[in-house]
Amino acid sequence: MEKLFPFGLSLLLATTSVFPHFPFLSHASENVYSRPSARSVIFTRHKGSESEPQQVHISLVGKDHMRVTWITDDKHVESRVEYGKQPGKYNAIATGEQTSYRYFFYSSGKIHHVKIGPLESATTYYYRCGGYGPEFSFKTPPSAFPIEFAVVGDLGQTEWTKSTLEHVGSRDYDVFLLPGDLSYADSHQPLWDSFGRLVEPYATQRPWMVTEGNHEIETVPIIFPHGFKAYNARWRMPYEESGSASNLYYSFEVGGVHVIMLGSYTDFASDSDQYKWLVGDLGGVDRKKTPWVVVLLHAPWYNTNLAHQGEGEEMRKAMEDLLYEARVDVVFAGHVHAYERFTRIYNNKADPCGPMYITIGDGGNREGLALTFKNPGSSLSLYREPSFGHGRLRILDEKRAHWSWQRNNDSDSVEADEVWLDNLTTSKACWASVDAQQQQPSSSANEEL
Ligand SMILES: [Fe+2]
Repeated sequence: MEKLFPFGLSLLLATTSVFPHFPFLSHASENVYSRPSARSVIFTRHKGSESEPQQVHISLVGKDHMRVTWITDDKHVESRVEYGKQPGKYNAIATGEQTSYRYFFYSSGKIHHVKIGPLESATTYYYRCGGYGPEFSFKTPPSAFPIEFAVVGDLGQTEWTKSTLEHVGSRDYDVFLLPGDLSYADSHQPLWDSFGRLVEPYATQRPWMVTEGNHEIETVPIIFPHGFKAYNARWRMPYEESGSASNLYYSFEVGGVHVIMLGSYTDFASDSDQYKWLVGDLGGVDRKKTPWVVVLLHAPWYNTNLAHQGEGEEMRKAMEDLLYEARVDVVFAGHVHAYERFTRIYNNKADPCGPMYITIGDGGNREGLALTFKNPGSSLSLYREPSFGHGRLRILDEKRAHWSWQRNNDSDSVEADEVWLDNLTTSKACWASVDAQQQQPSSSANEEL
């Protein structure tokens, strides 16, 4: 698994020097912070034996279970997790399943998936994978508010990724959300292994819930026509539990929040499985139980950056009505390597009953920042900046949440943008228009993007 293809290295070296320092280009032009260039890729090696777990990460499954995923080079290691509430004392044990895959001359290690639980909420558990190696621990999310999400898109595995993850880990949170583009392996499979090792210190401690970006596709005509071979094998999400037939879109509920992970790179037209699944999923949301509804997808539906203009438009036209009518609170996207926060929008107009749109594709990947925004911008775009960083959505209760964007100022993390959100269930006007079906909500701006 360790061998990195030479042409992969040359590609990485070529792409790390594309973006030089650049003059400031966003709304906050009073800020003299100079834009950083991309940083080099970190290749993280496995230091243990072939039996020892590597690339360990956890993800939520259902109300009170966690999936533990890890890889061993040794194919004889059992898919078994021992766990308990005290260090070194494992009074519970669970077994699971395993898979592996081939991609041209690359052969993956044994990929173990073990579901453990039922688990108590807001509780620390200690665990060991396959009977070998170190003890890990995680904290389960709370069953009620407050709850905090760290949100990071387009993560990659560079020195900037490392900074971003250190900043994420420097303050407590409950669940990590990633709206696509994880490893930037781009078919060079050893980089998937390297990515898994780089994120392990964080992804062993808190659940990582991800959806796919374009860098996960990895299709090869005729041989791998459907793509997502590595992604689906390594980053298995709880799709069956939400009635989805695909790992590429699913939903889950945690601490009073219904989170929907959509797939920008699988069919989304009105006759597609994903569309039909979304109709059913939104129809089943109980806002008394989960007052907050949050959606993540990769290619943004609203974007004033010159990068990836219009790439999310087809999906927006297909699905925006569904999210609007369901009164989704926030939509997070990645893909554009910058930060941008919009007002509440529906159909290209400000709308108090529409979702707030946020692009958070600035995790730190090797391609660097998307430096240039449209000029003039749009009154719908309230803050935009091409810098690396991460976001935090802290939901205080059923009515109020706080969003902040933490910019990477080299080794420091600085809160550069923040806003309070009112839950849409608190607006009687928004629900009256749902009941009336055809009633058009008021609009405070008519500017088209
Ligand atoms: Fe992308």
